Amino acid sequence: MKKILVVQSSARQEGSLTREYTAQLVRQIEAANPGSWVVTRDLGAEPVPHLDATLLGGWMKPAEEQTEAEKAASALSNQLVDELLASDIVVIGSSMYNFGITSTLKAWFDHVLRAGRTFKYTEAGPVGLTPDRKVYVVTARGGRYEGSPLDFQEPYVRQLLGFIGITDVEFVNVEGQSMGPEEAAKGRAEADEVLAALA
Ligand SMILES: Cc1cc2nc3c(=O)[nH]c(=O)nc-3n(C[C@H](O)[C@H](O)[C@H](O)COP(=O)(O)O)c2cc1C
Repeated sequence: MKKILVVQSSARQEGSLTREYTAQLVRQIEAANPGSWVVTRDLGAEPVPHLDATLLGGWMKPAEEQTEAEKAASALSNQLVDELLASDIVVIGSSMYNFGITSTLKAWFDHVLRAGRTFKYTEAGPVGLTPDRKVYVVTARGGRYEGSPLDFQEPYVRQLLGFIGITDVEFVNVEGQSMGPEEAAKGRAEADEVLAALA
């Protein structure tokens, strides 16, 4: 039995490839781990707020010294961190927008990369505090970027996760989706193969 956290970040509900492929991947994980339960954080449907002065002010203080406004601002943020730390497996749907991740996914990372919870500062530099766990990242892209210096998505997401201690990360990239029907079908077939190999 595994606790699976699914983080969706496509703005689309209909026709979203990241939603389609993450759903398939979650079915595979559930089949391999009967009795698993899934928590979904849908950033497309309900974006989390950007960091602001109240929230950052609260983060700098022990909980008992926070103002009511700072406590209120921290509540959702703490919940996002708790969801991540409670998971055994994380599945992230990451649409490529303007060469990188969506602003909604960036906002989620801003909440969960939290000093004292998921990483800490030391004299030798920052150290991840998040016990390693399996993370799958399903990306969808209009073009083809895998292995190219223009892929600001995969290396960035690896860096963000690695910073808090998560290094067991696998990517499924659905590429070439705006390059005509042949390229789109090829991109899907390649992603299907990667998915099948994960089973
Ligand atoms: C606002 C926006 C920006 C996009 N920027 C890029 C981009 O920089 N490079 C690219 O290859 N595709 C880009 N795309 C295409 C998406 O990556 C592609 O449609 C992908 O399938 C979106 O994920 P989804 O299907 O889960 O919604 C963009 C799409 C949108 C809506």
